[in-house]
Amino acid sequence: MEVAPGQAGAAGGGGASELITGIGELRTCDPLEEGRVLRDAAVVIEGGRIAWLGAAASAPDADTCTDLGGRAVLPGWVDSHSHLVFAGDRSAEFEARMAGQAYVAGGISVTMDATRAASDEELRSLVRQRVDEAVAGGTTYLETKTGYGLDVDQEARAARIAAESVDEVTYLGAHLVPPASDGSPGDAEAYVDLVCGPMLEAVAPHAQWADVFCETGAFTVEQSARVLEACRDAGLGLRVHGNQLGESGGVMLAVEIGAASVDHCNHLSDADLEALAASETVATVLPACDLSTRAPLAPARQLLDAGATLAIASNCNPGTSYTSSVSFCVATAVLQMGLSIDEAVTAATWGGARALRRETTDPDGSLAVGSLRVGHRADLHVLDAPAAIHLAYRPGMPLTHAVWRAGTRVR
Ligand code: NIG
Repeated sequence: MEVAPGQAGAAGGGGASELITGIGELRTCDPLEEGRVLRDAAVVIEGGRIAWLGAAASAPDADTCTDLGGRAVLPGWVDSHSHLVFAGDRSAEFEARMAGQAYVAGGISVTMDATRAASDEELRSLVRQRVDEAVAGGTTYLETKTGYGLDVDQEARAARIAAESVDEVTYLGAHLVPPASDGSPGDAEAYVDLVCGPMLEAVAPHAQWADVFCETGAFTVEQSARVLEACRDAGLGLRVHGNQLGESGGVMLAVEIGAASVDHCNHLSDADLEALAASETVATVLPACDLSTRAPLAPARQLLDAGATLAIASNCNPGTSYTSSVSFCVATAVLQMGLSIDEAVTAATWGGARALRRETTDPDGSLAVGSLRVGHRADLHVLDAPAAIHLAYRPGMPLTHAVWRAGTRVR
């Protein structure tokens, strides 16, 4: 509940300050700090950043005050893997899968056709609607990918539209080799030339990252490496879809090339686990996708035990994971992947930020996201519950009570 403005300006700095108090449990999710869980806490936000946090009893005054009545506060979710730029529906494919069919990469071309047929305005409105749904579930920092255009103009359009609504855009021209116009299989080598040449040139101005689906039915390790090298040379950061359907070699490629993240990680050898543990590459697991494809759950417990850095993301897309609910993913990680609530929440906040290399403040002034610490961006997810464990204890319940993004209440 919100109360009337308090006394003026004691938190310092420019602009109005807001004291958020009555926090029953505050999880900072900052792995570098001791005392990551505070009880009876308060936060002061000012100028879009956290100006102060600590025990409510010693909180400074601020211009306005919001009392959360004992609710829990976490950093907003950092969703580091989604595919929001699409049109069309694949529920029939999903239903067939629930009746026993296997997921195959080829379904991407169904969404490609529907996406190409949508107008800019339709696509823009679909993306906005999906971003709004994500924010309503507590997401405050969001990456999304191209990958359903699969020609030069359509990929550039997808990146341009994505950049209007999300924080980070990933170029995924290498999602699938599109079929030829007569429906026969496309020429993979010629398509990789396009992805590394004119398509990259058209998309790069709108993107920060490049990704490749390194998997049977999509791109080989050699083709994936070619794409990643060209994108790195064009100044994009690297990410990989790896080891989703089998031991594709994607994890090793990601580690060797120094990708920021390798995502899916369902099928890992001991060598993959060791390589991830010894690298700076984040292992991003996608629990909702694992459930929606009836895949073996990614070995999140083993990854943490081996010493890898873990992120959890939604993978919202029409084929394998049509949900942007990171809360659902966190609940699944606790209920079915053997993570503690602290591990799961940290992977979906700080871990996501680390996967996007946004866990620290940049010299250019972009504020750190994914953890609550003085100077970081004030992205808060308030639960309608006294403690974060309720996310798993009450799975599927609408527990997002309020959301602050960069210091502004957006829900
Ligand atoms: O991350 N695996 C590749 N890309 C998406 C699925 C795309 C689709 O089937 O439409 C994923 O699961």
